[in-house]
Amino acid sequence: KKIQFQNMVTNLIDVDPNIIRQEELLASESPYREKYHIEPHSGVLNDPNGFTYFNNEYHLFYQWTPLAFTKDPHIWHHGWYHMTSKDLVHWRDLGPGIESDTQLDSHGTYSGSGLAVDDELFLMYTGNTWNAKWQRMPYQIGAKMTSMGEIKKINKPFISGQPMGYTSHFRDPKIWRSNQEYYAIFGIQRDNLTGAAIIYQSKDLQNWQLKGEIKTKYNEFGYMWECPDYFEIDDQGVLIISPQGLKTENDKYQNIYQTGCFIGTKLDLDTLTFDHDDFQELDAGFDFYASQTTLAPDGRRILSAWMGVSELHYPTEAYHYAGALVFPRELTIHHGRLIQNPVREISELRHAEQNINLNVASAQVISQGVTQEIKIDVDMANTGRVNIYLCADGAKKKYTCLTLDRGAQQIILDRTHSGVTLNVENGNIRKRHLAIEKLVQLDILIDRSSVEIFVNQGELVFTERIFPDELQDNVFVEAIDGVTKVVGKKWSL
Ligand code: FRU
Repeated sequence: KKIQFQNMVTNLIDVDPNIIRQEELLASESPYREKYHIEPHSGVLNDPNGFTYFNNEYHLFYQWTPLAFTKDPHIWHHGWYHMTSKDLVHWRDLGPGIESDTQLDSHGTYSGSGLAVDDELFLMYTGNTWNAKWQRMPYQIGAKMTSMGEIKKINKPFISGQPMGYTSHFRDPKIWRSNQEYYAIFGIQRDNLTGAAIIYQSKDLQNWQLKGEIKTKYNEFGYMWECPDYFEIDDQGVLIISPQGLKTENDKYQNIYQTGCFIGTKLDLDTLTFDHDDFQELDAGFDFYASQTTLAPDGRRILSAWMGVSELHYPTEAYHYAGALVFPRELTIHHGRLIQNPVREISELRHAEQNINLNVASAQVISQGVTQEIKIDVDMANTGRVNIYLCADGAKKKYTCLTLDRGAQQIILDRTHSGVTLNVENGNIRKRHLAIEKLVQLDILIDRSSVEIFVNQGELVFTERIFPDELQDNVFVEAIDGVTKVVGKKWSL
């Protein structure tokens, strides 16, 4: 978004409160408000930022443009919105955390991360700026938050502009500590217009030296890598990136932009060699991008992500807001695959537990509710295909269909009949190969306008926004040519 910075209102506190109230009122009137997913009171949410455990609670910020839909050319506001939680489930709203109000971040406090250091939370992010000729100049800058929650920007940039051999697409630092040294990984674009991840090192969090590019085996893999993240699980190294510019390959890379990972041996921080496997997409659905992870105090690796993708549009924009974050996920590695499951704290949201134990042939309702979780084993031994109609009306005319196809060894998600259509140019069907013999395990989180489907204990995940009407609160199951047995539990959330 290109706007001049001169004479602009840049802090939310300087905006006429009536405008903010009107925007929030309009957003609150939306029939699609999520119940247990984070979404903005108004404006646009995108990437999760600064996800950390600090001072006995989780901090999670998100990219936020609160007045994106007012179209007032004099109000430019972009920042990090701040939320905290003790349990990753119930979130407290702390309002704007960082705003685009200095010369170093005049056109966006872009994505970044946090690290608890002594008794402060150190935040590092990209200040995006445009000059009068619309040339981009990135600054890698920071801020410190005290245990009282007071955030102060550090006025001197750590890095100005980009290193030699790269374009100004240089952003999204993720920081960590290893052996008394600090490291930051950034997404960047090479001069030859390919994406890469580079690493800087620092002893004091002020002076940062370029170490170089992580040496992956993917040298020509999209034109830009956004939001990189590096961490280790069980002695293995995981590099997550959000590459832009991948071409669709059969069922893979169906969205405009993807997020995925490389799993390998631990990254060698001296040579930056990284011996890793093939790229794995993190999500097989329609709406997932720009993830960020943190370490829980008990050692679990927790992921957040934007339940959306850049350049897509959502029906909530009519109510002047868009975007939500996924339900936090715990990451593990199993047989070389990154496994994602809803964090176990979800149990705090569950109520009205019901058992499901049904033999099903023709379509039958197995559970009801606008916001619910169903965790079921679907027996495929005596049927070739099972359809699960999520968020279906009573007549089963509107629904989101999940198909388990034993013949084709596929799992298929179809949102053609989900409700208000969206982003039709991206298609309405997503598929993945799935080895189907007997049981398929599903854990499905349904909120008012989103569905997250975890398959076989998190081996595969489909995330999507859908916009059903309020009467679409049934889940039907049907077995085509045979019978299935569905066993599990349902909770209201
Ligand atoms: C990813 C991204 C980041 C950038 C931020 C700006 O969605 O483009 O690369 O820092 O969003 O909002």
